[in-house]
Amino acid sequence: MSTVVITGTQWGDEGKGKIVDYLAQQAETVVRFQGGSNAGHTVMVNGEAYKLRQLPSGILYEGTHNVIGNGVVVDPEVVLQEMEGMEKRGIDVSGIRISDRAHVVMPYHRLMDGLGDEQKGAGKVGTTKRGIGPCYMDRDDRIGIRICDLMEKETFAEKLKVNLARKNKELQALYGHEPLDYDKIFGEYQGYAERLRPYVCDTIVLVNEEIDAGRKVLFEGAQATMLDIDYGTYPYVTASHPISGGVTVGAGVPPKKIDKVVGVVKAYCTRVGEGPFPTEQLNEIGEKIRNEGHEYGVVTGRPRRTGWLDAVVVRYAGVISGIDYMAITRLDILDNFEEIKMCVGYKYKDEVLTSVPASLKIVEQCEPVYETFKGWQCDITGIRSYADLPSAAKKYLERMAEVTGIKVGIVSVGPNRDETIVVAQDIFGK
Ligand code: GDP
Ligand code: IMO
Ligand code: MG
Repeated sequence: MSTVVITGTQWGDEGKGKIVDYLAQQAETVVRFQGGSNAGHTVMVNGEAYKLRQLPSGILYEGTHNVIGNGVVVDPEVVLQEMEGMEKRGIDVSGIRISDRAHVVMPYHRLMDGLGDEQKGAGKVGTTKRGIGPCYMDRDDRIGIRICDLMEKETFAEKLKVNLARKNKELQALYGHEPLDYDKIFGEYQGYAERLRPYVCDTIVLVNEEIDAGRKVLFEGAQATMLDIDYGTYPYVTASHPISGGVTVGAGVPPKKIDKVVGVVKAYCTRVGEGPFPTEQLNEIGEKIRNEGHEYGVVTGRPRRTGWLDAVVVRYAGVISGIDYMAITRLDILDNFEEIKMCVGYKYKDEVLTSVPASLKIVEQCEPVYETFKGWQCDITGIRSYADLPSAAKKYLERMAEVTGIKVGIVSVGPNRDETIVVAQDIFGK
């Protein structure tokens, strides 16, 4: 058995796409298990950027199965646009498989995501407005439309009729919005259905058979632990389970079939949207991180909030997801800093907390306890072995491993596939 879960440990945008693409060199299958087009994963190969929102990041390898699992909410328009974009660039998309159990994002989901979040006023989450929350809400309300329903013309017509009648009432009553047109949506989605049909299958059978046959399977998390609906900074979170446990329900794979978990850790911290961020630097340090790292969202273009690495958060992610190795990314972004800080605990009243508290009131009152590190102040992007990293960088990484209790498995020193240092040789199997 050879299965690896890649999960984000912070607030997303850690570089999961890059790590998945790197490890996918060895994998036969890459599986997305949660989230939807709220994700923005950038993969860079030889200076060419590929931006992925719905498609798994194994798409650049011919012959690889790229599975959109049942736990994903599928926006057909986005999937088809991405597939078209890939084909135009000469990428083979024939290995894509879409779960017949996945739920479908509808136009009213996108619309209500935006309207609903705005209506929360000061309490708004700052969602990506891609309809993710409303689509999962319909699933949990047991009125959702699944890919298998979309494949059956009559079932889809019936479900859309019932749902749209209800959504139009809500649109009118809650937001004073004009009703959406049934025929327009029906026609549009029938078009999508025909184009998606060749890729739809029972991905649970496919993925489990591949694992049982000893093939290497990667599970690609979107978002991250601190955005998890239960484990994140609720309510400033997304609507799914990005933690490693999300694989079992989002791909139909039992826990005992998961071999290893790799937690992707950005060498500092960022967050898009609202909510607590204890190590945020609302000052020139934050500005410098944003400028050095070009920290702007892929999906919405919003400037990302920036701050120092929060090892409390990474440790917490490690506990929840059972992380074997950290893949530390964007270490090169810290190349030009004289001093680098790491939060190793939260001072709360007379205590120092080493896990993330549930109450946002308590989080607000926590003061990060920082340790200060000397910067290495040189270009590390050309380095390809751990031993060759400057000793100041190694000190920073070693302390990170100590505080989080997780070993360093990979160090990424640039966005390109080859700008990667592999420290642990046993990530896949053995
Ligand atoms: P994801 O959502 O976790 O996949 O991360 P994003 O793709 O949204 O953001 C990470 C960004 O950092 C992307 O633009 C990557 O190409 C880039 N990236 C990944 N690893 C590294 C690295 O080690 N160094 C630098 N400079 N960029 C990286
Ligand atoms: P990747 O996979 C960073 C954030 C949004 C918002 C909150 C809820 O690229 O790491 P949603 O639209 O999901 O209901 O928004 O979650 N968010 C992300 N932040 N990276 C992401 O994905 C995110 N996906 C959602 O900004 O605060
Ligand atoms: Mg991203």
